[in-house]
Amino acid sequence: MKKCFSNRIINKIIPLCVAALLPLSQVSAQTKTDDAKMNAFVSGLMGKMTVDEKIGQLNLVTVGAATTGSVVNKGVEDKIKKGAIGGVFGIWGADHVKEVQDLAVKNSRLHIPLIFGLDVIHGHRTIFPIPLGMSAVWDMGLIKQSAQIAAKEATAEGLNWVYSPMVDIARDARWGRISEGSGEDPWYGGQVAKAMVQGYQGSSMKNADAVMACVKHFALYGGAEAGREYNTVDMSRIRMYQDYLPPYKAALDAGAGSFMSSFNTVDGVPASANKWLLTDLLRKQWGFKGFVVSDYTAVNEMEAHGLGDLQMVSALALKAGLDMDMVGEGFLTTLKKSLAEGKVTNQEIDLACRRVLEAKYKLGLFDNPYKSIDPSRAKEVLTPENRAAARNISKHSFVLLKNDAQTLPLKKTASIALVGPLADNHRDMLGTWVIAGEWEKSVSILEGIKNVAGSNVTINYAKGANITEDSLFIKRLNFGPGMVSVDAKPADELLKEAVDAAKKSDVIVAVVGESQSMSGESSSRSDIDIPESQKSMLKELAKLGKPLVIVLFNGRPLTLTWEDKHASAILDVWAPGTEAGNAIADVLFGDYNPAGKITATFPRSVGQIPIYYNHKNTGRPYDGKGPSKFKSNYLDISNDPLYPFGYGLSYTTFGYSDVKLSKTSLKGNETLTASVNVTNTGKYAGEEVVQLYISDPVASISRSVKELKNFKKINLQPGEQKEVSFTITPEELKFYNSQLKYDWEAGKFIIQIGTNSANTRDASVQWDK
Ligand code: BGC
Repeated sequence: MKKCFSNRIINKIIPLCVAALLPLSQVSAQTKTDDAKMNAFVSGLMGKMTVDEKIGQLNLVTVGAATTGSVVNKGVEDKIKKGAIGGVFGIWGADHVKEVQDLAVKNSRLHIPLIFGLDVIHGHRTIFPIPLGMSAVWDMGLIKQSAQIAAKEATAEGLNWVYSPMVDIARDARWGRISEGSGEDPWYGGQVAKAMVQGYQGSSMKNADAVMACVKHFALYGGAEAGREYNTVDMSRIRMYQDYLPPYKAALDAGAGSFMSSFNTVDGVPASANKWLLTDLLRKQWGFKGFVVSDYTAVNEMEAHGLGDLQMVSALALKAGLDMDMVGEGFLTTLKKSLAEGKVTNQEIDLACRRVLEAKYKLGLFDNPYKSIDPSRAKEVLTPENRAAARNISKHSFVLLKNDAQTLPLKKTASIALVGPLADNHRDMLGTWVIAGEWEKSVSILEGIKNVAGSNVTINYAKGANITEDSLFIKRLNFGPGMVSVDAKPADELLKEAVDAAKKSDVIVAVVGESQSMSGESSSRSDIDIPESQKSMLKELAKLGKPLVIVLFNGRPLTLTWEDKHASAILDVWAPGTEAGNAIADVLFGDYNPAGKITATFPRSVGQIPIYYNHKNTGRPYDGKGPSKFKSNYLDISNDPLYPFGYGLSYTTFGYSDVKLSKTSLKGNETLTASVNVTNTGKYAGEEVVQLYISDPVASISRSVKELKNFKKINLQPGEQKEVSFTITPEELKFYNSQLKYDWEAGKFIIQIGTNSANTRDASVQWDK
């Protein structure tokens, strides 16, 4: 054991020295030496392993603390001792993990350590905003910081592998898992993916505070038909390459150690047995060197997809390039038989086993299987510093959707009617996918307002409405005990209390929207309005004619046409995490000026879905003047969204100059500089996300009307002006053509810079080859 610890220190120091001191050629020579050492080690170990032990490494089990399917593994202890398990997920806590690691390291024949995973999605103990909210910060430093803190806390509790980032592009707000990703844009999604992977894995996965990332769900999971969870995905290759695959590739390029295959079909074949996806694309085209784990029982589920019995689907999965089988034990129970029957080969089993062992090697688990299990680090979770970081990140994620007559910020002396089912609530502050986070330790909005505004503020609190009065809906939302608590008081009485509170106050702050279990996995909704019980409350309150501020909780874009018309202000806070109340109060009272921008389009109506800014033009484009016959539009609604991608207001206002271009005619690899002057024209200091879009009006295929290519977030004092410049090269002009070649074509390009995807200043250039 002594040797292990000295190795640990050396492991920490070497990569730092290598990175800091050596030129690139020597770094790659070092990588080759490291790879050779790893290969020799793994080959040596595999030389001693039986086929059963090799298959055992491919078996990932859960013991049931956190499950997302109907199956939980049995006989785990015995199987670990027999070498029939390679990894365990769903447990955490140094002592608990150590007990289980002991079973493998002390009791199995070859003492091969287990890998320990968990769904650490937006924080481990300290919870950050849900990923869709996190993506609204447009600050990769903050996003990376959240992953670093999550990694630190997760390793302090014995973990070394997290099932994040989820990088599925989603353009359908009915799909509950839109909450887990970064929205609809492939380039922006790639930036977030990279920041998350870097944050989790640090400079080396061997570091005691680093975890291995698991990029999910490979691939195209966000394209589920009708936004219905687990549904079929079917799309053209061009769309895959152009719009859906880039974030996975960005995560891979950032060094992600593992991928998770998705539940859906890709080109008719379920992802977990899709050879084109897992081998041709991921490994041969993209050069992925890590391992692929299936999603929860995804191998078994291929029986229902109609691909054969368990033996058949397990063999298909292995042959396609799937290395580890999550929970379903299809690999464990059938691969040996398939080997005997010639349905899989020893080489295929060896390859998958090698990849799993390599991951453990890269994590340093063979040097020290207990490297993340350090009880002295128990106090590193939920520290005041981590909570402060969470508060800061949360307030950066809020999006001001509306603010008439400068209703916000509020005065710290105001008399406020604080109403709504989410106003004095701890459980729903954290949002979906919180496994180890404790909602009891979150800050409610009522508490946050008291903390921030102090004793001069008057708060007249009333719940006003239940999350919903629909008993069937409540039953479905309550998949875990007490997830939705319903006040027994009749709806009329709750409402009257809210109206009475409002009558006594100058301003109404209504905290409404989706509760925790309304979004996330298996939470598709066909109606994405604020639930009726809450909406009725808002309608009654609006009749009072007092300023009405909506603080909106949501794991997806909601349809807010009524709210947009009748509320004075809307602050979208998603599900902000542990520090929810403090961060919200910071923004409500103007201690922080909101600057978040939405990364998924908000529709006016569910009927517009899928709706996204980077759509094609069609042959009969909508002219923006309202419905007209024989154009691509609806008879009953405009094509425009309620809030476009990249949208978000501030307490101040920003003015944009025209776009200045360094040249208007370019050739080949020349570089273009495009700039605008942005001026803070309002009364408050504030941040603005300046966005660069390019459109390519003539090409060999029909192109999206515009595509985000870059952004810069700037900070301006009142009256201050800054020049914001973007460097554009032919790289930004490239797209996938009909041959799936990634290239650019000469012609005219429109450079667009602005405050959101629908509000830009434009200038055009001619760019020849
Ligand atoms: C989800 C994954 C998750 C896994 C393990 C599945 O149901 O789709 O995102 O990582 O469960 O909990």
